[in-house]
Amino acid sequence: MTQEISLQDPLRFHRKAPPCAVVIYGANGDLTKRKLMPALYRLAYEGRLAPGFAVIGVSRTPMSNDEFRDRMHDSVKTFLEASPFDEDLWRSFAQGLTYIAGDVGDAESYTALAGHIAEVAESRKTEGNVLFYLSTQPSQYAQIAEGLGGAGLNKGEGWRRIVIEKPFGHDLESAGVLNRRLQAVFNESEIYRIDHYLGKETVQNIMAFRFGNGIFEPLWDRTHIDHVQITAAESIGVEGRGAYYQEAGALRDMIQNHLLQVMATVAMEPPSYFHSDAVRDERAKLLRSIRIMRPDQVAANAVAGQYGPGRSGSELVPGFLTEKGVSPDSQTNTFAAVTFLIDNWRWSGVPFYIRTGKAMPKRVSEIAIQFKTAPLAMFRRATAGAEALPNVLILRIQPEEGISLKFVSKRPGSGMQLRPVSMDFNYGSSFGERSPSAYETLLLDAISGDATLYTRQDMVDASWSAVQPILDYWATQKFTFPNYDAGTWGPAAADEMLARWGHTWRKP
Ligand code: BG6
Repeated sequence: MTQEISLQDPLRFHRKAPPCAVVIYGANGDLTKRKLMPALYRLAYEGRLAPGFAVIGVSRTPMSNDEFRDRMHDSVKTFLEASPFDEDLWRSFAQGLTYIAGDVGDAESYTALAGHIAEVAESRKTEGNVLFYLSTQPSQYAQIAEGLGGAGLNKGEGWRRIVIEKPFGHDLESAGVLNRRLQAVFNESEIYRIDHYLGKETVQNIMAFRFGNGIFEPLWDRTHIDHVQITAAESIGVEGRGAYYQEAGALRDMIQNHLLQVMATVAMEPPSYFHSDAVRDERAKLLRSIRIMRPDQVAANAVAGQYGPGRSGSELVPGFLTEKGVSPDSQTNTFAAVTFLIDNWRWSGVPFYIRTGKAMPKRVSEIAIQFKTAPLAMFRRATAGAEALPNVLILRIQPEEGISLKFVSKRPGSGMQLRPVSMDFNYGSSFGERSPSAYETLLLDAISGDATLYTRQDMVDASWSAVQPILDYWATQKFTFPNYDAGTWGPAAADEMLARWGHTWRKP
């Protein structure tokens, strides 16, 4: 632990990865093709990887090293976002790519992997450092960790780390079981639970905005903030992931992990210094302060939705129930909205509304901090109520990354007329630089041993605890689904949930 602290560059400036082998389980899968390999290539392009860098792909399909390299070449070319593909660079990068077929249920495959890692360590000079990245079915995580442990691969000459993708369990109990099995093989400090939302530049920027500036933090509390709305809307449906999604649903897929992490980043106390443990302690503390709903409080504070057929722009979108892999009477939520309350001094009584859904009018993720209105409505008569509009600070996560502050202003003219206006900061025009993808940031972090943006087990437990009463209550309900049309902002019940507090959802 002490060693990890001293190795970490606290401000994450001069980051260059140490030598290592990244072993990807699920090397033939979608995530590897779309995200991991393009991110690793991009890190190579930026000169962030050490010369002693290697990738070992593992999956069931038999393949030669060259076949693996060819497939990865095509994926990187296809999915590399906004940067040139350089064939020369690829050739040198691809020299570090090897492949080994293996069945996760077969103990021998781990022994074979151990031999392969040793050879790669020798030929590529990785100094024995290994990062295992599990991009497989979540049901295989514990089995793979145990297989690695059985072959002695959890220890070695260099460091060992294991990255797992969400979902971390299906509920509070299964998350605990998974965790115990992982921790029987790896130390908590070696387990990196990835939440790609935390790797997004704009989510990291919430910390810069709050803690790097002096003027906002004094306003950041129950005295000045009326409520907070966090929206993550997607215009697409489940796009071929029906079988997975049917088991998950929006609450598990987005709120339990990504959006509660975002809420924690917005609402946590300032850490005393920028270090992974200090930051994660504060996020964990916030998540533990979320009020746990009683069963009789769920109906008023959580809304489930499922889309039926509708339109997205000019396109017709089929309903969720007719998606591939979805059973025709599925009770899965493709939309979820929840009112969370935080029981601490800073936030007592301030509702945090979170909503997320598939097949919504557009893809947009944002956080809207709504401030209290001015105490005296001095301009009411002259402005048709415009000055009663509250100030809203909008942190736009995607697709237009930036920050806007809405306030009212006097219209030019002799009268005292007020109109809402906006002060905008836009990432693209202010910096003119490409933002690294979340996977680039997070892979570099894991290789460098910086867990600031990774989720710790206590956070996973706390966020499951916050959503578990909702899951339990919903499991007893028979929903009348579908209850919103594709291409709309979700069921009417989500509006009613806010109306009970005297609030309305913003239309982003
Ligand atoms: C994933 C979910 O974790 O996040 C998907 O499983 C969702 O269902 C995705 O589409 C959203 O990520 P992003 O970065 O596109 O907002």
